[in-house]
Amino acid sequence: MSQISKLVEPVTIGAWNLRTRTAMAPMTRAFADDKTGVVNDQTVEYYRKRAQDGIGLIITEGVVISPRAKGNPGVPGLYTQEQIDGWKKVTDAVHAEGGTIIAQIWHVGRASHHEIAGGLPPQAPSAIAAEGKVSRFGKPFDVPEEMSEEEIAEVVNQYAQAAKNAMEAGFDGVEIHGAHGYLIDQFNSDVSNKRTDRYGGDLKQRLTFMKEVLKAVIDAVGTDRTLIRFSALKIDQPTYMWEDPEAAIQTFIDAFKETGVQMIHPSTMEFTKPIARGLTLHELVRSHWDGVIVGVGGLDANTAEVALKKGTIDVAAIGRPLIANPDYLARIKQDQPLVEYEAQKHLIQLV
Ligand SMILES: Cc1cc2nc3c(=O)[nH]c(=O)nc-3n(C[C@H](O)[C@H](O)[C@H](O)COP(=O)(O)O)c2cc1C
Repeated sequence: MSQISKLVEPVTIGAWNLRTRTAMAPMTRAFADDKTGVVNDQTVEYYRKRAQDGIGLIITEGVVISPRAKGNPGVPGLYTQEQIDGWKKVTDAVHAEGGTIIAQIWHVGRASHHEIAGGLPPQAPSAIAAEGKVSRFGKPFDVPEEMSEEEIAEVVNQYAQAAKNAMEAGFDGVEIHGAHGYLIDQFNSDVSNKRTDRYGGDLKQRLTFMKEVLKAVIDAVGTDRTLIRFSALKIDQPTYMWEDPEAAIQTFIDAFKETGVQMIHPSTMEFTKPIARGLTLHELVRSHWDGVIVGVGGLDANTAEVALKKGTIDVAAIGRPLIANPDYLARIKQDQPLVEYEAQKHLIQLV
């Protein structure tokens, strides 16, 4: 793979001068203190190693914006001073290695259980339970509480506050987790959003909550420090696809344009799979969007390099291979084989 050039090329996107076009995809690791949501020295070392390897943009694991936003034990937060101080050690270490790091800000919505979400029922657009069980906890998802308009406004503020806290913690910006069937995506989807107020209705109308979060976060930290992730796929419906993918993508992009966001991260597990007109998710997005696109979903160095060369994406996010290979880029550059990712083996410790 010595012909790689784009993956290791520097690029500026928004306010970020990235050393390479390779990003670390956001990955929940659940190694924070479960009571306080504070990260520890192992977390510092884990992210430092990826920065040392030359990863251009590190997107952290999902970091929750309130106690009620939490969906798994051991997930870190960004809403107390102690949590901010813990993350400061991580951002300092990444910056000392010349890296760039943004916090993925997260609210899981109904994908939780009251014993995890601070003793209260999970929050969601409608009182409809997600299918399945809470991962790493084993109990079925609770029936959530339908959020009032006041609660929606409060949660929008919590996203903005978490983004400000991220800046205080030394992050270079944030990624809003709008994907995978969590709170924002629960508003976006007709399966989980049956509201009859301005937050419900057709897709355009259901994107209202996402737009409000985006505007509030952009107001808080600037559009040049804000990335948003979105997807069709959901944790409780991994193969879900929009009925008319291109129309849905167009509606999302119209919404993005209204908010002034410039950087988007469409998420799929199958980067090379055509979904409409023979085009992949990222190719369809590119045909409607001139701004920055972060690509993800089973990318290897070859597929990433091709997509970067074609201009389909601007940055390639790598997930599981970066858990198994802290020295991912060094191996790619030297044409050395990668360690195969095995969940059972690799998720039990932070390396
Ligand atoms: C262990 C694990 C945890 C993940 N946690 C998150 C998360 O917190 N936020 C998120 O947006 N995606 C999460 N993902 C999805 C990844 O960011 C990525 O989109 C997915 O793994 C596909 O990329 P890959 O094929 O390169 O691994 C997670 C994936 C894995 C394997």
